[in-house]
Amino acid sequence: MSTSPRTLQEIDAACWAELERAATEPGHAWRLMALATVDGDAADLRHVVLRESRPAERSLIFYTDARSPKVAQLAAHPLGTLLLWSRALRWQLRLRCRFYIAVDGAEVAARWQQLKATPAALDYLSPLAPGQALQAPLPEPTHEGHFALVTARVERLDWLELHDDGLHRRALIDAEGARWVAP
Ligand SMILES: Cc1cc2nc3c(=O)[nH]c(=O)nc-3n(C[C@H](O)[C@H](O)[C@H](O)COP(=O)(O)O)c2cc1C
Repeated sequence: MSTSPRTLQEIDAACWAELERAATEPGHAWRLMALATVDGDAADLRHVVLRESRPAERSLIFYTDARSPKVAQLAAHPLGTLLLWSRALRWQLRLRCRFYIAVDGAEVAARWQQLKATPAALDYLSPLAPGQALQAPLPEPTHEGHFALVTARVERLDWLELHDDGLHRRALIDAEGARWVAP
């Protein structure tokens, strides 16, 4: 962004334009997202990589191992939060999302076909579920993939812009509309 967006509508559009950029530019700070989930009576948190942004659906996509604890947590409690920070933009995005997990179907099959031939496929070819105890650092890969595609439908976008002079700006955009709030 060369100029800072002024209106709430411009902020929403600028956020989604950046999210689209982040999904395709490896160096973009927003490519790495912190995903917070509910784990029983505690919060859990980890990084995931943004693979695709769909502004029209207000959705973001990441990949994971279908056996991972985060998938079980999202299946039990499909609401969570994605947190992104860009030092270049000085923008924090806190995205309250509803998560949908897909492990089969045409879209999953097409993406797995693309991934299969790349080193990234190893993330989904371990014989052991993520978190399982190991005798050695690296288990032998299997041929069976455990690929899951997770779609995060953004229900509330919380945008915070930091300024050196302390005049920070913050906006909330959700089903109730778009509004300014105190930073
Ligand atoms: C830079 C970075 C990127 C990561 N990207 C992903 C990812 O896209 N998907 C994923 O499942 N795990 C990713 N991980 C690993 C997770 O942060 C986490 O350690 C792992 O998925 C187990 O999480 P869970 O036990 O909460 O399911 C990434 C870790 C780092 C450090």
